[in-house]
Amino acid sequence: MTEFTIAASILSANLACLGTETTAILNAGANIIHFDVMDNHYVPNLTFGPMICEALRKYGITAPIDVHLMTKPVDNLIIDFAKAGANYISFHPEASEHIDRSLQLIRSLGCKAGLAFNPATPLDYLEYVLDKIDLILLMSVNPGFGGQQFIASSISKIKTVRQLLISNKLENIHLEVDGGIKQDNIRAIAAAGTDTFVVGSEIFAQKHKNYQTIITNLRTELAKSTK
Ligand code: DX5
Ligand code: ZN
Repeated sequence: MTEFTIAASILSANLACLGTETTAILNAGANIIHFDVMDNHYVPNLTFGPMICEALRKYGITAPIDVHLMTKPVDNLIIDFAKAGANYISFHPEASEHIDRSLQLIRSLGCKAGLAFNPATPLDYLEYVLDKIDLILLMSVNPGFGGQQFIASSISKIKTVRQLLISNKLENIHLEVDGGIKQDNIRAIAAAGTDTFVVGSEIFAQKHKNYQTIITNLRTELAKSTK
């Protein structure tokens, strides 16, 4: 039975009370916190840096923090986020001059390493680094904003990556999908081979419903995907 992980993206949380929001979403059943780091250079938006990660750790958040660097360059932020308490650090291959070195840097700092693929980025970047990654992050929207529409062609890309992991006996590598995941499409996204789901606006934008209800509904859909 696949272990499904829900990674709550705090991009859509009420950032004026990030500590209580993060606590609430974890208490409601999210497994990890997804940190969408944007530098207004690699993507046309600007979000949070290592200090916010450190602040959440000091506030008492002990759950894994999954840092998604939508920045260029990446190496200095890898170091700073590792120091600030990140557990997973992913970056886009187009944003590093030396992908192998950046991946090794993440692991050398005690974090799990991931590569993030934009919808149009080919999977060829995986060819020589499968032994250096713990996570493959497939973007199912173009990076920069929450609340976007899931790109339907992502399903075949997910299936391709799952097949690659199976044929290379690399199921220990997590397959994470990020963008546009909702209660009405998470089942199909899971059935295609995803094990880790980044969910932002579906959780945080539905203020009138409590987080517990949303997470429970998402997990109910995930359970159906294995039938
Ligand atoms: C895009 C971000 C979003 C976010 C998820 O750069 O990475 O994909 O995490 O946002 P929703 O769930 O609102 O699409
Ligand atoms: Zn993300």
